[in-house]
Formats: sequence, structure tokens, C-alpha cells
Amino acid sequence: MKSIRWGILGTGKIATHFANDFAYTKTGELKAIASRNKVTANQFAQRFNIELAFQDYFSLINSDQVDAIYIAVPHVYHYELTKACILAGKAVLCEKPFTLNQHQSTELYELAEQHQVFVMEAMWTRFNPMIEQVIDWVADGEIGLLSSIQASFNFVAPTDPTHRLNNKALGGGALLDIGIYPVFLAQLFWGLPDFVQSQAILNDDDIDMSVQTLLGWDHGGLAVLDTSLISKSSNRATLSGSEGYIEIDNHWHKAKSCRLVDKNDREHAVEFDFPGMGYQFEIDEVNRCLEEGLLQSPNFTWSNSLDLITTLDEIRADIGVEYPQEHISEPANIEEHHHEHHHHKH
Ligand SMILES: NC(=O)c1ccc[n+]([C@@H]2O[C@H](COP(=O)([O-])OP(=O)(O)OC[C@H]3O[C@@H](n4cnc5c(N)ncnc54)[C@H](OP(=O)(O)O)[C@@H]3O)[C@@H](O)[C@H]2O)c1
Repeated sequence: MKSIRWGILGTGKIATHFANDFAYTKTGELKAIASRNKVTANQFAQRFNIELAFQDYFSLINSDQVDAIYIAVPHVYHYELTKACILAGKAVLCEKPFTLNQHQSTELYELAEQHQVFVMEAMWTRFNPMIEQVIDWVADGEIGLLSSIQASFNFVAPTDPTHRLNNKALGGGALLDIGIYPVFLAQLFWGLPDFVQSQAILNDDDIDMSVQTLLGWDHGGLAVLDTSLISKSSNRATLSGSEGYIEIDNHWHKAKSCRLVDKNDREHAVEFDFPGMGYQFEIDEVNRCLEEGLLQSPNFTWSNSLDLITTLDEIRADIGVEYPQEHISEPANIEEHHHEHHHHKH
């Protein structure tokens, strides 16, 4: 089987981390980069020794030199670029959040099924060896019955109002950018919650700077989740059970260590030694899935991704945050209902 040829859309912060960690993957070749700007594309290509540099995203998407595409641009462009990749028959690894809302995600996963194209939301934490350890401890009953999850993800973002995190037009806000991780962790164990309640601090542009969320499950589980772009925190996660608990160290979403405190209050600390930041694991997962002819990863399925965006939609409804680009996709019969949609969104 020939090596899977990868292309990246975007040359920002995460594209750079991804290209760095590509060196640590087991298989696959980083073959192409696309930027909106020729100079930037060429610089990125030179820095990472990439053969092809495209000066627009669609030339890369339509290139027959590329098998898989990593989408590393602001959230608001994920929908249209993923759609274009699927239509061009390219496998997709798209940054989180996969789209702005559940409607858009559903439409894309249906399209992927129809065109038999592999798609995965780049929820890289799922593939960190630390998370595998945590899943095993819980499954093996090391902490008894898991009943409470606490997780935070905070950092202090630049205050420049044009920065993508503060800018509504670029899908700004804490929840979709980093608040997605605590929700991911809770749902990894319990799936969709039965109860969602949030409070938020919004900026002048009416997007969320801080959000506190309480999720509840009818079986008795509770999750207390905290995210912010204006305050620092420990960025730890704790999973509490009837016989013990697990702590994941700062920054838990990319941690290389975690700790089990067992029923005898004894501590078992585990450290993982891997190079880079850990993006290689999600890339290896995509390569493995493509080699096996899968359309979705069994470890982060389309349904896992839809459950994630469903809860994010509910939280946003609760705190009153909306994006103008949410209107670019509606269910397939958009033409007939066009007018209605524009009304009841306001
Ligand atoms: N998995 C993770 O750990 C992680 C971490 C950070 C971010 N992310 C996700 O990755 C995505 C990108 O985040 P980032 O931090 O890499 O952002 P960034 O540093 O601002 O880079 C975004 C890139 O997108 C391209 N782009 C296209 N249209 C743009 C526009 N109108 N304004 C600004 N940039 C535009 C630009 O590349 P060109 O100029 O080359 O076209 C830019 O360099 C987001 O969806 C975010 O949620 C994930």
C-alpha cells in the first residue's frame, strides 16, 4: 500500500504544531500545504520541507497529489472546506469544532456517507496515550462507580478585538475553541447528557469569554465544566468514583501524565514519554483507518462528534451566543424554507 499523501489547509498556529509532529507518525507523507497567500505557503513549505505549496485552498483540495486533507483554519470555514474535500473525494481530518452547529455536522457526515469518504473531527485528545490509561482505569473499576467529572480549560487570550478568539465573524468565544474539551471528556464516559445548564460572561460582540456548565445524566453522573479566555486556572481534570479518583495534570487535554488514587488511598502516577505535542496519534489513527478502508474512526465516531456539537448547541442556546455563518447550511430542503429560517433565528 502506498503511503498516504497529506495536505494542510492554513499555515497558522495549529498547522505548525501538526507539521512538527508529522515527523513522529508511523506512516504517511506530508506532501502539500495551502495558504491564502503565496509567500506564506512557500515559507511553510520550505520550513517543513513540503513538496507542493498552493496559493489557494481549492487548488490543494482538487490536486490529484493528495489523499488526505487536514483543515486548520478558523471554525467558520470548516463547513465549506470539509464539504469541498468530500466532494473532491479527499479524506478529511478537520479541526474542532467540526462545524458551528449540529445541522452543519449532520449534513457533512451524510455527505461523507453518500460519497464514501473518510471524515474525522480532529479531537486529538482522544488519541493521547494518557486518555487510553484513564479509560482503562475506569473500565477496570479502579475508582469504583464514576459519578463526578470536573474539568477546566482556561487561558488568557489576546485582548485585540480582531483576534479570531474575540471576533464573532471568525467564530470566536471560549466554548467552541477550548470549552469543547471538557465537554468531550464528560461525554467520553457518559455520552449525551440529560441535563445542560450554563452561565456565561459575554464580550461586547456577544460571544462567550467565560462559561460554567453543569451537565447531568439520569444515571446519576454529574460534570462541572469551566472554560475561559479571560481567567487562568489549573486546567486539570478529576474523575471521582465511589472507591477512588483520577487526576489528569495541567494541561489535561494534552497531558503526558495522570494519577490514580485507589481504594486504599494509594497513588499510582503514570508518565508517558513521547516526542512532540501528541498530534502524531490522531494522524496515525487516520492513516490506520484509511488503510483499513474505514469511513470513520471507531475511536471517535461521527456519532461522538455529533453528540459533542449537540451539547455545544444546547450550551450556546442557554447563554445566547449565535454566529451569522450558522445560516449557510440548513437541512437539504433549504430552498423551500429559506424565508422561515431567516425569521425565526431572530
Ligand atoms: N487541536 C488543537 O490543539 C488546536 C489548537 C489551536 C487551534 N485549533 C483549531 O484550529 C483552527 C485554527 O486555529 P489556529 O489557532 O491555528 O488559528 P490561527 O493561528 O489564527 O491560524 C489560522 C489560519 O487559518 C487561515 N485562515 C483562513 N482564513 C482566515 C481568516 N479569515 N482569518 C484568519 N486566518 C484565516 C490562515 O492561514 P493562511 O493565511 O495560510 O491562509 C491562518 O494562518 C481553529 O478551528 C481551532 O479551533 C486546534
